[in-house]
Amino acid sequence: MIKTSILYLFLLFPNFCDSAKVLLTVMDQGRSHATSITPLMHRLQKNDHTTALEMATYKPDIDFGMEERFINMSGFENNFISKDFFKIAFEDEFTFVHQAVPFIFGSISCDRILKHQKNRYLEIANENWDLFLSDSLFSPCGYAMAEITGKPHVMMHSSDVESAHGSFKGFSRNYAIMVPNFLPYSMSNFTIEKYWHRVVSTVDWFGSAFITGAVAGFAQKWALRSIIPFPFFSFYDYNRRSSFSFTDMPDPLYPVGARTNDYFSFGTYCTAQKKVLDEDWEQFVSDPKSKGTILVAFGTIIDWRFAPEEKFEIFLNTLNRLTEYRVIWSMKGDRPKGLGEHVKISSWVPQQQILNHKKTVLFLSHGGLKSVKEAVCSATPSLFMPMFAEQMRNAWLAKSKGFARILNKFHLSEQYLENHIREVVEHKSYQIQAEQFLSTFTDQPMPALDEAAFKFERLFKYNGKMPKFFYPKTIDLSYLTALNLDIWVIVPLVLGYIISK
Ligand SMILES: *[C@@H]1O[C@H](CO)[C@@H](O)[C@H](O)[C@H]1NC(C)=O
Ligand SMILES: *[C@@H]1O[C@H](CO)[C@@H](O)[C@H](O)[C@H]1NC(C)=O
Repeated sequence: MIKTSILYLFLLFPNFCDSAKVLLTVMDQGRSHATSITPLMHRLQKNDHTTALEMATYKPDIDFGMEERFINMSGFENNFISKDFFKIAFEDEFTFVHQAVPFIFGSISCDRILKHQKNRYLEIANENWDLFLSDSLFSPCGYAMAEITGKPHVMMHSSDVESAHGSFKGFSRNYAIMVPNFLPYSMSNFTIEKYWHRVVSTVDWFGSAFITGAVAGFAQKWALRSIIPFPFFSFYDYNRRSSFSFTDMPDPLYPVGARTNDYFSFGTYCTAQKKVLDEDWEQFVSDPKSKGTILVAFGTIIDWRFAPEEKFEIFLNTLNRLTEYRVIWSMKGDRPKGLGEHVKISSWVPQQQILNHKKTVLFLSHGGLKSVKEAVCSATPSLFMPMFAEQMRNAWLAKSKGFARILNKFHLSEQYLENHIREVVEHKSYQIQAEQFLSTFTDQPMPALDEAAFKFERLFKYNGKMPKFFYPKTIDLSYLTALNLDIWVIVPLVLGYIISK
């Protein structure tokens, strides 16, 4: 009797006792995307699964705490790091149309990998992985690893599930009442109550789906033509066939939307605070003359050495005037001339420890999702100056929770910057709302990373793809059909035709 039930268990869950081998493939030199997903990978390691990271590297990168399967592309130019990019970041609007550019860069890089490093590429792809985890953005060579080996794959979103990807998967979200992924910089007062704002949301949604499906889709077909011949790679199908979508966007931060079984947000967690501040940092921030610490940090990508001179001067002069505070400015390069004693610059800053320090009163940042989450987890009032990608949307999410304000990079002046900084540090409401939001943030039935690991375990049990009933029917329908747009268009047309007869 016992024997039969054990046998039955094994038949039911053939891989139950195995540990799985998982390869996370991210965009080239994709430290930012990789570090969003790293905590989940570390959680999987605790369950004895093997996790590895694949990306093309143009220069050495940090240790991600998992096995490395890097493709060494040093000697070639990394298109993602260009002066043009910094011009866009500091001076231009960023819309769904811009989203095509990194997809094209990723495709060019992938084409080059397949020309110059094909053996290394195939060696990695064929390592008998159980599951591929695909960075949702800009990594066609990673997608193709799953395609050519026929192994299952999961989409990994380092911010929210992008509108295009969600549409492809039939998530049936109401696009008009979602805050646009690429919220215009002038719309910090976005509200779904206004008709025009809902129109902007809708245009952003369908525009993104078109750019990602058509333009980025075409670039990726081209990049992969040597290993995926006619009818070529389809990013649309790749998303539809994915067995799960995991996103780092914390549920409490994002508007409530329709959910499917194959969707999970693992982002609602706060990492345990690492050790306390080192002596020299502690000494700087605990100066008794200081009214508080202001941390200025714009993430791993923005390099102040390439900032337009006048924007740099505005920051320099404004921070210089805040002599009653201690300012920590994270930047690479030499110490700028004329900077006051109360400003400390450093190319590396113990960001988490500083944000958690009791004297810290303001976080001035770009609004990348990881920064927003660090502000949330340390309950730090924030000022976000969004620069590119979906940072404006993230900043808006923080603003709508009441603990942050948004700076418009187009309006930047010394007075404007100083006014905003003083507004946040001199009014208690931002601190109070930050603490209120944090107090409910991780209040869930089960810690998010544990639940994510549980969902992976179940996926492994079914060899990487859940049974068909698990997935929404809309996956097999076109998005326009799933949204009933055919009914709304065709029925009135037919009625109109009959009436006009
Ligand atoms: C990558 O390749 C370059 C030149 O081909 C070499 O100098 C470098 O050591 C390699 N890096 C790694 C991490 O293997
Ligand atoms: C946003 O709304 C607030 C309050 O309604 C108003 O004071 C502010 O000027 C508005 N900002 C913009 C950029 O429209």
